[in-house]
Amino acid sequence: MKALILSGGKGTRLRPLTYSGAKQLVPVANKPILWYGIEGIVAAGITDIGIIISPETGNEVRDLTGDGLLFDAKITYILQEEPAGLAHAVKVAQPFLGDSPFIMYLGDNIIEANLGEFLTTFQSNQLDSLILLRRVSNPSAFGVAKVDDFGRVEFLVEKPKHPPSNLALVGVYFFSPAIHQAISQIQPSARGELEITDAIQWLIDQRYPVESRILDGWWLDTGKKDDLLEANRIVLDTQITPEIMGELDSRSQAIGRVRIGAGTQLVNSSIRGPAIVGANCYLENCFIGPYTSIANGVTLIDADIEHSVILQGAKIDRIQQRIVDSVIGRRAHLTLADRRPKALRFMIGDDSQIELA
Ligand code: DAU
Repeated sequence: MKALILSGGKGTRLRPLTYSGAKQLVPVANKPILWYGIEGIVAAGITDIGIIISPETGNEVRDLTGDGLLFDAKITYILQEEPAGLAHAVKVAQPFLGDSPFIMYLGDNIIEANLGEFLTTFQSNQLDSLILLRRVSNPSAFGVAKVDDFGRVEFLVEKPKHPPSNLALVGVYFFSPAIHQAISQIQPSARGELEITDAIQWLIDQRYPVESRILDGWWLDTGKKDDLLEANRIVLDTQITPEIMGELDSRSQAIGRVRIGAGTQLVNSSIRGPAIVGANCYLENCFIGPYTSIANGVTLIDADIEHSVILQGAKIDRIQQRIVDSVIGRRAHLTLADRRPKALRFMIGDDSQIELA
């Protein structure tokens, strides 16, 4: 059994963060989204992993993630020249996959479930595909499945205007090598992509055994800002154990489940967990509230922040209102002008969202 993780694509929805970086590397609780997928796959006993990368962000993914040593796995990088669809990515990966069955994992998804259980179902029922589904309130944003009472898939449709059910396809799929034949038979969709949903539909039409299971645990497709904040909240809530490696002065305190990295200094600051602060940060006169992740090398002075994600090297200085529900990009700088400003001054990247309250 092998694994194929898709970490290419364009990442338009998390702009502007993804202009300068891969969306799969945006951190959730200070760990790249992609790494949650790798860890889940390795926990299911699969260590031969291919990662699809794009020409734009591939080097960054490879440099950060490495050859697998960090995860006790072997990672092979596979370049997909253009984001021509999920099934196209499988086609490009065919030399790596050979005739092995495999799990395909979308690199911007995080799921809570234990993949080992699904792997056992896939293998013992001798399926050509096992797909995971979850009930959602907005099925039109996903691939959608119609299943019978036994979990057999009747049909699938990608991002339908009129969804046949509220069961969305989660970005984790199990395939036998029959999927390669299916992919060779399908045509690009109206949006110009070779869709994996169409390839699975081909298997169903040819009466190959395809089953589904419904996911009980949480599943996060981290495509948009609010999804990212929600992923951050859930992971901090369920996976953070306290550890203080930095230094707190006598007027600082960490309350509840808080992680603070090495080389970080807190001066007259309080952190209320669940929250995480990376390494080599400097916090002075701050209150950091629950569900906040602060990456490495961040400087915060006179800041009051809650339910937010602050990326590497950002600096927030004397903003006198509470910052909530926010994502602040790498090396971004928010500050108050020295005198009370008559006018606001900005240097804001494309696609940024600023809300002045
Ligand atoms: O997240 C679940 C959904 O993922 C499913 O419900 C849909 O059926 C499925 O088509 C997919 O839809 P998305 O629109 O969310 O896919 P997206 O374009 O965001 O790509 C998913 C991942 O695959 C992402 O990490 C980028 C990567 N990718 C995407 C394309 C199109 C590639 O590596 N190569 C590609 O060509």
